[in-house]
Amino acid sequence: MTAPVDESFGGPPSAPAPWAHRSLLTAGALAAKDALRIFDAADSFFEVSRRSVRKVPALRGKTLLNVFFEASTRTRTSFELAGKRLSMDVVNLSGSSSSTTKGETLLDTIKTLEAMQPDLVVIRHAASGAAEYVARRSNVAVINGGDGTHEHPTQALLDAFTIRRHKLGQGQGSFAGLKVAICGDILHSRVARSNASLLRTLGADVHFAGPRTLVPVGAETLGVTVHHRLEPALEGADVVMMLRVQRERLQGVFLPTTREYSRTFGLNKRRLALAKPDAIVMHPGPMNRGVEIDPEVADGPRSVILDQVEAGVAVRMAVLWLSCQAQGPEDAG
Ligand code: CP
Repeated sequence: MTAPVDESFGGPPSAPAPWAHRSLLTAGALAAKDALRIFDAADSFFEVSRRSVRKVPALRGKTLLNVFFEASTRTRTSFELAGKRLSMDVVNLSGSSSSTTKGETLLDTIKTLEAMQPDLVVIRHAASGAAEYVARRSNVAVINGGDGTHEHPTQALLDAFTIRRHKLGQGQGSFAGLKVAICGDILHSRVARSNASLLRTLGADVHFAGPRTLVPVGAETLGVTVHHRLEPALEGADVVMMLRVQRERLQGVFLPTTREYSRTFGLNKRRLALAKPDAIVMHPGPMNRGVEIDPEVADGPRSVILDQVEAGVAVRMAVLWLSCQAQGPEDAG
């Protein structure tokens, strides 16, 4: 199904295939065909953001609430832009300015917001499972914008979409056989978990690399190969994804020093030479320059880090649009 990017679009295509994911809580909930459908819609929406007038009326009259209890630059802003570029009414609420600071519970907050009849709520929260918790206890459609160390499904979608655009000719090729190295603080990374899940669903060969203290026990059960040195993960890789050392979740016990970490697990030009000559370098952001990634690599010709950011708006437009298609025929226009 082609996404409605034409200015004259006034409703869904005449016979849209049903979209089963009114809420999006985990990357694992998506089959490969679902992810590919999101990418196809995002390809159309990608062009909207490059027009002089960056708006289509696809979701006019729909309401999006962005409820962020944790800091965010990319996810919050791109969901806001995605909603606005689809002509939604978008309201942002941050934890620090909400009545949770007066003791209101998360569930009471969501029930209160639900009474205002939003079509979609994007939630980010420091507690793993928070998005599923509110989705199970309310009738509102929930998109997980990152919950603790658990999942960040739209980040995985925008990462895979970026890989597709750079490595697979915008959907012509297959993820099968692509070696993707995800490196760094795996333990605290919802991005690693969601990416492993989605990229394995799409057929990629996923490798984790991190110090023993920063890789969860049993990570192999995600279908990935685990390394405790960077080099074997980088060798022959098509995609190198570096992860932020999450200092706010470390509590001082997992690393000797950041200098030592950078020396053994930081991506520099010399180490990147182990990957394929046309390998791309990714990072979900925010980066710790000079810790997990050398500035020369982050800003170098193989870096697609800002392309990931641009892709985030298009992919989130696609997710919002498809989620609204799942809300029933009378609501889908
Ligand atoms: N990648 C990501 O989630 O970034 P933000 O924390 O800035 O949203």
